[in-house]
Amino acid sequence: MGSAARFGLTAFLSLLSTLVAASSISKGQTIEVNGNFYYVPATAVTTLKVSSGRLSQDTGLVPLTVIQSDVSKFTTSIIKNLVNAYQAADDVFNTGFLENIYVAYNGTSKKPIEDVTLPSSWGNKFLGFSAAYSTKKTTTCSKSIPSGPYFLDGTTGDVFEAYLLYSDVMGSFTQGLYAVGDGSYNVLTASLSGYASLTIGVPSRLYFTKTIKQPLAGVRLGVKDIYDIKGVKTGCGNRAYYETYTAANTTGPAIQSLIDAGAVIVGKMKTSQFANGETATDDWVDYHSPFNARGDGYQDPSSSSSGPGSGIGAYPWLDIAIGSDTGGSIRNPSQVNGCFGNRPSWNLVSLENVMPMSPLLDTAGFLTRDAKLWRAASEVLYAGAELKSYTKYPKTIKTIGFPASASTEAYGIILDFLSSLCSFLGGANVTALDYDALWESTKPSSVSADTTLETMLNITYPILISKQQFPLVGEPLYNDYASANGGRKPFIDPVPLSRWTWGLEYPESQLETEIKNKDIFTAWWNSTVQVFDAETCSDSLILYVGASATPIYRNAYRSMPGIPRGFSASRIANFAGVPDMVVPIGQAKYNSTITEQEEYLPVAVDFIAPHGCDLMIFNLVSDLVAAGVVIPPVTGSTLYGDGTIYYN
Ligand SMILES: *[C@@H]1O[C@H](CO)[C@@H](O)[C@H](O)[C@H]1NC(C)=O
Ligand SMILES: *[C@@H]1O[C@H](CO)[C@@H](O)[C@H](O)[C@H]1NC(C)=O
Ligand SMILES: *[C@@H]1O[C@H](CO)[C@@H](O)[C@H](O)[C@H]1NC(C)=O
Ligand SMILES: *[C@@H]1O[C@H](CO)[C@@H](O)[C@H](O)[C@H]1NC(C)=O
Ligand SMILES: *[C@@H]1O[C@H](CO)[C@@H](O)[C@H](O)[C@H]1NC(C)=O
Ligand SMILES: *[C@@H]1O[C@H](CO)[C@@H](O)[C@H](O)[C@H]1NC(C)=O
Repeated sequence: MGSAARFGLTAFLSLLSTLVAASSISKGQTIEVNGNFYYVPATAVTTLKVSSGRLSQDTGLVPLTVIQSDVSKFTTSIIKNLVNAYQAADDVFNTGFLENIYVAYNGTSKKPIEDVTLPSSWGNKFLGFSAAYSTKKTTTCSKSIPSGPYFLDGTTGDVFEAYLLYSDVMGSFTQGLYAVGDGSYNVLTASLSGYASLTIGVPSRLYFTKTIKQPLAGVRLGVKDIYDIKGVKTGCGNRAYYETYTAANTTGPAIQSLIDAGAVIVGKMKTSQFANGETATDDWVDYHSPFNARGDGYQDPSSSSSGPGSGIGAYPWLDIAIGSDTGGSIRNPSQVNGCFGNRPSWNLVSLENVMPMSPLLDTAGFLTRDAKLWRAASEVLYAGAELKSYTKYPKTIKTIGFPASASTEAYGIILDFLSSLCSFLGGANVTALDYDALWESTKPSSVSADTTLETMLNITYPILISKQQFPLVGEPLYNDYASANGGRKPFIDPVPLSRWTWGLEYPESQLETEIKNKDIFTAWWNSTVQVFDAETCSDSLILYVGASATPIYRNAYRSMPGIPRGFSASRIANFAGVPDMVVPIGQAKYNSTITEQEEYLPVAVDFIAPHGCDLMIFNLVSDLVAAGVVIPPVTGSTLYGDGTIYYN
């Protein structure tokens, strides 16, 4: 930057060579069909040979519906049923694509017949059937493609996929992406009209069929912007970081496993800065915090997987998002955006090519509205850990901080859920867990008599994250930014900056002390509080209140950021390395100071189990959904409503 003035001649020469080497590369184009906008990639998926006069237009790109069919007599009612099925299954398809129809016969009959009179309301011209249909030997396809909506170049016969464009009205994303086809990704070069909103493109769901090898085929995935994706810059929520580093030259193994299983990455999603906990709005200096669709639309989306939480709470076209959880960064956004979310057992998957916070605490997990997909994606992501599946569940429930009575609507929902869970388990022994008292009576002899959990673990979390993240992320950024910018210091948001600065005041030995404290807690927890069971993986289910419909307005001015000291239920999983999974169980009313009406916010319960018991909880939640004890949320202002979001 700024080199032109200082190195005039060099700049001139390189400009010359740039001119000589100039080339134009198509990045695709945008087309409107029936009022919807579509992105058309630059690369064709196949070529159709169409005899002249058959196209409704003879130049440019025209909408096309491809129908794969193996019926030997293809009739009007078959085509109508297929169109209905496409409309039900896919948001990308619309009847505008019926302007041209190509039926690709994939059956075995030697003499398939077509007998079709299309509704005139479709306003289409039939492109004809594939060569196998005897009556219209006019059209052939160079390579078989799945059924679905496409665009056809009338001049060349090239066929292109259709990506429906959506506006990121909640500010959940940082970049829209699409796969180039060589393992790398491009930033989507399409833009809808919209105020300060990115555009995201999603391919037709009809292109994909789930298989054993590709259980996530066609699943639309958003990726928190701390994971490297080949060909794309990683921003980590910091402008200087995004500017300083070049595009990632590789996709890390965690994301690659999801791609290999068929997931479709639609974009990178916002993280609070360097995955530190930031509260909307005043902590978010470099970028604006995403919006939480729930309630009045002006609630904090929590952090640090804020974009994933926001998008999953708002967009029906987004199936799942991958976040990261070091100290609550998946669980907290899941709780307040009303979705399922898991902090898995620690160390189930490689976090190579992922920005670290504290490698001893960092985990990768999902946020989604769909319990089945949650499990399926986790089985792919954690495949290397060979987790054992358990379908018998513990009959002991220990609750932390549960309400004593249904004194609020949310508390009533929590207590009802607990009783439904007990019934589902065929009766269970429910007790309140007082971990402080248990510690006093069972703490290891290696710690002094006056050591409480609160004193032992008081600064464990902030020391681990600051003293591990600064040398891994902060210091290299300071150096790299300074050398590219004449010695200047990069801007860092108040939260990460105050944490790093605080951590630097402690000697290195403090990190060793806190790691030891963490390990003492891990050993105590898994030997004394919640232990492995051969039949049910865990001797108990430990539950705590994740969300109780408490508003946190994003238009409130707060104090200066503090250090995340202390110990609470949400720290158990961090320090013990055990799974902690968020289950949305309902919604409760509050009086909104924004809308001056009663609105709903999510109610959620967290489940804790021993290390490696992730699949037991996944199975239990799936069973609870099947039994109607847990109702999967939909997107929008309310968890079980019509999808309405305000301010879109
Ligand atoms: C033909 O394609 C349809 C739609 O994809 C599929 O359901 C059917 O199984 C295929 N038939 C054969 C014989 O491959
Ligand atoms: C990829 O980038 C990293 C730095 O981010 C570098 O160390 C590595 O050599 C690069 N690999 C290739 C194949 O270019
Ligand atoms: C219920 O669990 C508590 C604590 O785990 C235990 O002390 C008690 O004996 C159990 N009660 C029954 C009836 O199993
Ligand atoms: C936690 O640490 C802070 C200093 O960082 C201290 O002021 C506070 O008293 C400590 N709390 C406990 C319970 O040890
Ligand atoms: C319990 O914690 C100890 C100490 O960290 C560890 O070695 C052991 O593998 C853990 N056991 C289980 C079942 O998680
Ligand atoms: C909202 O305010 C009204 C009027 O004060 C009150 O009657 C109602 O109970 C309040 N609702 C909630 C959920 O607090």
